[in-house]
Amino acid sequence: MQDSAPQTTYRADYRPPAFLIDTVELDFRLDPAATLVRARLAFRRNGPGPMRLDGQGLALLEARIDGAVLPEARLGLGADGSLTVADAPDSGMLETLVRIAPEKNTELSGLYTSGGNFYTQCEAEGFRRITFFPDRPDVMSRYTVTITADRARCPVMLSNGNPDGSGGNEDGTHWVRWIDPHPKPSYLFALVAGDLVDVHESFVTKSGRQVALNIWVRRGDEDRCGHAMDSLIRSMRWDEEVFGLEYDLDVFNIAAVSDFNMGAMENKGLNVFNTKYVLAKPETATDGDYQGIETVIAHEYFHNWTGNRVTCRDWFQLSLKEGLTVFRDQEFSADQGSRAVKRIRDVRGLRAAQFPEDAGPMAHPVRPDSYIEIDNFYTPTVYQKGAEVVRLIHTRIGAAAFRRGMDLYIARCDNRAVTIEDFVAAMQEASGVDLSGFMGWYDQAGTPELTMEDRYEPEARRWVLTLRQAVPPTPGQPDKHPVAIPVAMGLLDAGGAELPTRLAGENEAKPGTRLLMLEAAEQSFTFEDVAAPPVPSLLRGFSAPVKLKGVSQDRLRFLAVHDTDPFVRWESGLQYATALMLQMVAARQRGEAPGFDPALEEAVRNTLRGAEADPAFAAEALSLPGEGFVADQMEVADPAAVHAVREGLRREIGRRCGDVLRATYDALAEAGEYRVDGRSIGRRALRNACLAYLVAAGETGLAEAQYAAAGNMTDRLAALSLLADAEGPAREGPLADFHARWRGDDLVLDKWFSIQAMSSRADTPAAIRTLYAHPDFDLRNPNRARSLIGAFASGNPLHFHAEDGEGYRFLADAVIALDPINGSIAARLVGPLGQWRRQAPGRAALMRRELERVLAVPKLSKGTFEKASKALA
Ligand code: ARG
Ligand code: ZN
Repeated sequence: MQDSAPQTTYRADYRPPAFLIDTVELDFRLDPAATLVRARLAFRRNGPGPMRLDGQGLALLEARIDGAVLPEARLGLGADGSLTVADAPDSGMLETLVRIAPEKNTELSGLYTSGGNFYTQCEAEGFRRITFFPDRPDVMSRYTVTITADRARCPVMLSNGNPDGSGGNEDGTHWVRWIDPHPKPSYLFALVAGDLVDVHESFVTKSGRQVALNIWVRRGDEDRCGHAMDSLIRSMRWDEEVFGLEYDLDVFNIAAVSDFNMGAMENKGLNVFNTKYVLAKPETATDGDYQGIETVIAHEYFHNWTGNRVTCRDWFQLSLKEGLTVFRDQEFSADQGSRAVKRIRDVRGLRAAQFPEDAGPMAHPVRPDSYIEIDNFYTPTVYQKGAEVVRLIHTRIGAAAFRRGMDLYIARCDNRAVTIEDFVAAMQEASGVDLSGFMGWYDQAGTPELTMEDRYEPEARRWVLTLRQAVPPTPGQPDKHPVAIPVAMGLLDAGGAELPTRLAGENEAKPGTRLLMLEAAEQSFTFEDVAAPPVPSLLRGFSAPVKLKGVSQDRLRFLAVHDTDPFVRWESGLQYATALMLQMVAARQRGEAPGFDPALEEAVRNTLRGAEADPAFAAEALSLPGEGFVADQMEVADPAAVHAVREGLRREIGRRCGDVLRATYDALAEAGEYRVDGRSIGRRALRNACLAYLVAAGETGLAEAQYAAAGNMTDRLAALSLLADAEGPAREGPLADFHARWRGDDLVLDKWFSIQAMSSRADTPAAIRTLYAHPDFDLRNPNRARSLIGAFASGNPLHFHAEDGEGYRFLADAVIALDPINGSIAARLVGPLGQWRRQAPGRAALMRRELERVLAVPKLSKGTFEKASKALA
């Protein structure tokens, strides 16, 4: 147990800072073992209270105010590492000198080393590990940063803003100065220094400003930056065209680092990225990696306005910048290729990560009410559900009003730290629409359930749709109230043609999709002039992040073929297959043979017939609901039964549709040069979807041949992941070959670990332990830790939930070993143990036991403590 229970921070306790800091001068003398940081803060009183500066693990060497040394008696060092200055004047210059040890920083928060170079990560509370400072986002300051280091060791030294001079010193060191003209909170500070090389381009903004673009990587990685650079340039152009937002510095630097806790970080003018979201070439990166790079590059770039110029008042408002910026990157990606396929993928992701979170022990509103460790709230709820809520507003008021709302939001909030109310108020004023019904989406946790019921009145030629909503109770929020739910919908006739619709009270019928607003717990909508019972298509484009219930299997089958909205076509197929699989699981649990629904064979054949028009969509339509998604629909999850049913279905589809699957597979054989445009990616996705069914039906040789002949990582990895489930040489040969070929490439080697971690073979639990002890495994590297531990716990429900508890034991062992090294990653990885409530009693008890074992560890990190204790509560 913790020595003293960690403190909870409450949103309701927000108080403005006692002091503001107008300017910051930072002076770094870089040394891996002992870096000196001198800070000069121009402070000014802003409200009542003492002068308290956050700090963590800092060795204070000197402190002065206006040049005069502060005696010890005026300095209070708190147990948490903070510094309180007694009798501070209302304004002045506070100067401190501290020493830190970047090479000992395994948490990768603050200033740390990776491969001999220096990097920082400050969001959310890492700046306090660099210097004493009011480390909260509502203190915005102008920064001047001077860096001095050994010239040979650190030829490149970067910080935020624009460069402002450099020079050499007699002692073999050199210095550079950076000035960031824009006030910013401390979490956006960054420093990168070391032996790096850059790939560069230039960009001219719409008003004619010349911007130097640089991507800084380790020597040898220069040939893998093209896609990131191209994505950056497209993002910059897109933000100008769609939102009128232009870049505001002379340089935009991106530095890639292989030891990084998250995906990337939007530090002003100096984004720091996990190498995973920068480096790509066809031999080493999959199509999914390429798409991830495009998304993350865009995301961090878009933060320059939504996050940096307009920032958050406090961390409870995190979704103000993250939800909005995810929405923006989703729209960008949708505009780059197929909007429908992008939406399908985003919804898949939301359901795979956010829906379970919203139904589990860590369920929290998009704007949480409290936290122990803010790091634990960089969640799918704050990011993805937050983006959905922005999308709800966009859907409700329309693109033009949304753009006016953005203009107003930025004009009004530029250079300020604001709240979610400020965003919603701007949207409301610009649109003239009352948006108060949407605030519940920010303040209530839980995924709303939407049920539909309808009736047709032949004499009156009237069709009545009744919609009901209920938001389920979540920890700390037993009672919920209704929220505003935009339901995009249309009606089809029996032949599948779209009908114009006229609601009671309207003068004329409208063609195509229309929006119904459900604002109460229950509402009915009456449609006039309906000649025959129609088939309703609801929630087109997934117009709200809800669970829709009450659509019959017959209607789903009809919509999957006929709806005009591609999302609903895909969704209906998915829901149909899910219901079917649940029936099959129930049959299996009763000891009955599950049987096979011929409608599935028909659906596969139908999809493949039309695949040429949009191969990416066809690939999405072909893939069965995932094991996790199906298990999530069960009262008591049965991962083994779900796995068996899904594998059985894949085998059966592979057998029955072997002819068309094989024909499609052959027809899509890549001829000519490898390309990463949407269509080529779609073709590879479809081809590999066919391969998976064929291998399930026994055609292992096809995967062996594809593995051997593949000219790109997408095809090679698709084949390898199928072979990882095979027996004997078909498996061992390619796995050994892959390791030998890519041993020296960290990002590729991560894939080798993940594939084995996710294998359904019976010996996987033992293999996991062996891989954990493998010389190439490194707990300290977050990507590597995730590639094995995370892939197993989140990507292998069958073995993670092994009846004997070995999967749980492995995860707890790994979390306990990792926590003292990097508590932030340990806290992320412990999550899956929190799903115990949905498991059968035997497994639930085993999961609880492991959570208790984690909690019993002395000096557990705050983050892991919060996750494990809330999971048990
Ligand atoms: N702001 C970053 C992004 O969304 C992520 C920062 C995550 N920080 C953390 N402590 N988990 O791009
Ligand atoms: Zn972000």
